[in-house]
Amino acid sequence: MYRTHTCGELTSDHIGKKVVLSGWVRRVRDLGGLIFIDLRDRYGRTQLVVEPGRKETFEIAKSLGMQYVIRVEGKVRRRPEEMINPELSTGEIEVVVEKLDILNRTPLLPFVIEDEINIQEDTRLRWRFLDLRRPKMQRNIIVRHHTLQAVRNFLSSEGFIEIETPFLTKSTPEGARDFLVPSRNFPGKFYALPQSPQLYKQVLMSAGFDRYFQIVRCFRDEDLRQDRQPEFTQIDLEMSFVDMDNVLSLTERMLEYVFDKVLHQKLEIPFPRISYKDALKKYGSDKPDLSIKEEILDFTEIFKGSGFGVLENIIQNKGIVLGVRSPRDFSRKEIDELKDFIVKEGGAGLFWFKVKAETLYGQLAKYIDINKISLEEGTYFVIAGDNKPATYLLAGKLREKVCKSYQDKKFNFLWVIDFPLFEWNEEEKRIEPAHHMFTMPYEDQIHLLEQDPLKVIGKQYDLVLNGVELASGSIRVHKRELQEKIMEIIGLNKQEREKRFGFLLEALEYGAPPHGGIAFGFDRLVAMMLGIGTIRDVIAFPKTTSAQALYEKAPDLVDDEQLKELHIKIIDQDLG
Ligand code: AMO
Repeated sequence: MYRTHTCGELTSDHIGKKVVLSGWVRRVRDLGGLIFIDLRDRYGRTQLVVEPGRKETFEIAKSLGMQYVIRVEGKVRRRPEEMINPELSTGEIEVVVEKLDILNRTPLLPFVIEDEINIQEDTRLRWRFLDLRRPKMQRNIIVRHHTLQAVRNFLSSEGFIEIETPFLTKSTPEGARDFLVPSRNFPGKFYALPQSPQLYKQVLMSAGFDRYFQIVRCFRDEDLRQDRQPEFTQIDLEMSFVDMDNVLSLTERMLEYVFDKVLHQKLEIPFPRISYKDALKKYGSDKPDLSIKEEILDFTEIFKGSGFGVLENIIQNKGIVLGVRSPRDFSRKEIDELKDFIVKEGGAGLFWFKVKAETLYGQLAKYIDINKISLEEGTYFVIAGDNKPATYLLAGKLREKVCKSYQDKKFNFLWVIDFPLFEWNEEEKRIEPAHHMFTMPYEDQIHLLEQDPLKVIGKQYDLVLNGVELASGSIRVHKRELQEKIMEIIGLNKQEREKRFGFLLEALEYGAPPHGGIAFGFDRLVAMMLGIGTIRDVIAFPKTTSAQALYEKAPDLVDDEQLKELHIKIIDQDLG
């Protein structure tokens, strides 16, 4: 028998009992007369004591190295009063070892297996199985598991059916590049790994499943950042006969359930909603961070006729003057750094003034009529520009920068709704979908599709948590004709529509019900729940930002034989 208990299980209730434990040696302290071993496993740590009286066991204990795997038999006893550790669940007891077996040895470790280590992430990823042995990493992966189970339980109890959809499929673009898989049977043809199960879930609604969900891997060949991976997990769901309110409220109840089950935290639902347009105006972002309470201020009126030439010129050009307040003082150096930041981000310049005890100070003070405005105390930063949306976006960045130290620690959820259906792609000079082309326009705007498509608002919703886009979804177009019209607007001709999306169009044609859904970035959700800045820490085997797997070493070269079977020739031989 390897164990009667785990390393996190023994308490004062077990005093006097004979036990068997197995685990990893975390630490050995040889105090001359006694050897203390800290034994660890997923469940916790137990202190073992080896007394010199047991000669053979004592000798083995002396030879132990870090992370050796051992099995011990012994008796539980109360620790001496001064050695009790209230922070550990096993802190009241220790096990006096009677027999000790080494189950496996370990060479010198590349790093210490503890939470607080200061090493490069690449080293951690290279030695991922050792990194995963650290308690924090184990906790992350376990919380991920609990979150998965909670989501499954909730959605199943609400009548959702979990249905798997293919990984080897046809390209269903969602804005990124596809990962392609060559076909052996059909030379020159490729499968694409799905960027999301978007089309399948819509087809499943046409198939009559009414409520579908899937916790599913998605694959996107895109530039990676802290919160992006080439393969990531979505909680994907779709519902029939619903409108936006149904999807939003189901999503809120799901999060309420999950946060309660996993974190024992009560979320306040419903979450606030804001339109895309207002989000831009108030926060300068389509994913506003509501852990910052300050809103962007419109100073255009204040500086109209103020005598400050730079701003007046911009106002005369139909431009806009915006302000961002921070309650604190800023040093010269900080202000200079902010100016550099604004210029780097494409702004013309940054001005400022300060309000204290109803008096104005600083660069702009003499241009402002204090009687004309009532402003809270604090430092005000001012930017201006002719292009209104760009100026709002810049003010949004400024807001996040100057208010960063005033963020609250709560979970601030926010729905951003009513996005434009289309965007103008200036580089390629064409209209493209703002979310994806399957989003339903508001009924009263469908007539605008022909005349002024960029004005049309779609039934799209994003769920934002503290400035991070957690989930995105929409009510879908459920009629073939309208879907084809939208495809036409973004430049897909009849032939392309048929070739790429024929199977979806067919499902819509044959009685698709009105439907809509949403997809969560599951890795992001777990990372946010844990308060972690990178999703790599909640994924067992993530890729680096250059999309490499450092532990198993992928991507890698393959045998010529494999390439031959796939009818593939590497043109540039130097690449290897
Ligand atoms: P979207 O493309 O917005 O929508 O993706 C949904 C959510 O998935 C997360 N996400 C990512 N997480 C990690 N790494 C990535 N590379 C990555 N890309 C996206 C984000 C995002 O909000 N089919 C639609 C959903 C729908 O309309 O129902 C879709 O995939 O948190």
